[in-house]
Amino acid sequence: MKPAEPVELPPWLDPFTEPLHAYAAVLSTAGVEMGLIGPREVPRLWSRHLLNCAVVVGPGESFVDSGATVADVGSGAGLPGLVWAITRPDLTITLVEPLLRRATFLQSVVSDLGLDDRVSVRRGRAEDLCADPGWSGVDVVTARAVAPLERLLGWTIPLLRVGGRLVALKGSSAQDEVMAAQAVASTLSVVDLRVVQCGAGVVEPVTTVVTGVRGTAQ
Ligand SMILES: C[S@@+](CC[C@H](N)C(=O)[O-])C[C@H]1O[C@@H](n2cnc3c(N)ncnc32)[C@H](O)[C@@H]1O
Repeated sequence: MKPAEPVELPPWLDPFTEPLHAYAAVLSTAGVEMGLIGPREVPRLWSRHLLNCAVVVGPGESFVDSGATVADVGSGAGLPGLVWAITRPDLTITLVEPLLRRATFLQSVVSDLGLDDRVSVRRGRAEDLCADPGWSGVDVVTARAVAPLERLLGWTIPLLRVGGRLVALKGSSAQDEVMAAQAVASTLSVVDLRVVQCGAGVVEPVTTVVTGVRGTAQ
């Protein structure tokens, strides 16, 4: 297997170099052995995965306010949730993941990186969490590579407080997904649903985000 590519991090990530490299090392070893990351992803671990997630909450982006509560639905190996937790120490994050092996991996990385005070792992499906009376709506829900937007809206919008924001990391089909999701978005009172690109000059290709706000039910 090829090693992770050498990378020059943007200066705003300087304070987080050590934990980011530690996380990259776990992903490219245990993450690959456990089947959470494909071996072919390792040579592009930084550009396609770590930086792709980091730019969404970097300087100049306003998707996630300071001090926000965040849920990462379908966190898998921790993308984007663990990258956000490392690079934004102001955030409180819940990593939502139904599969035991993945949830166990996430908990061990959270502990190893000393993030337990503000990052928790919740094993379960997003749609079941929505029905949990103990769940209090978060400020931001994120998801990456989990489901088409039309389905994802039903799994994520009910987890938000009214006024909270969905920040879904998507691929090149984002605009088509937004078009296809219009009816569901309307049913769920999602407002300002749109596609935004970020990370120009840091990642290639840039990161495509679909964002929308949970409005008040009509
Ligand atoms: C393709 S992986 C993506 C993982 C990670 N977000 C990433 O970008 O690498 C999709 C993840 O979504 C999780 N998932 C699938 N259905 C889900 C649901 N209903 N609620 C929460 N997570 C779900 C899967 O277990 C899996 O870990």
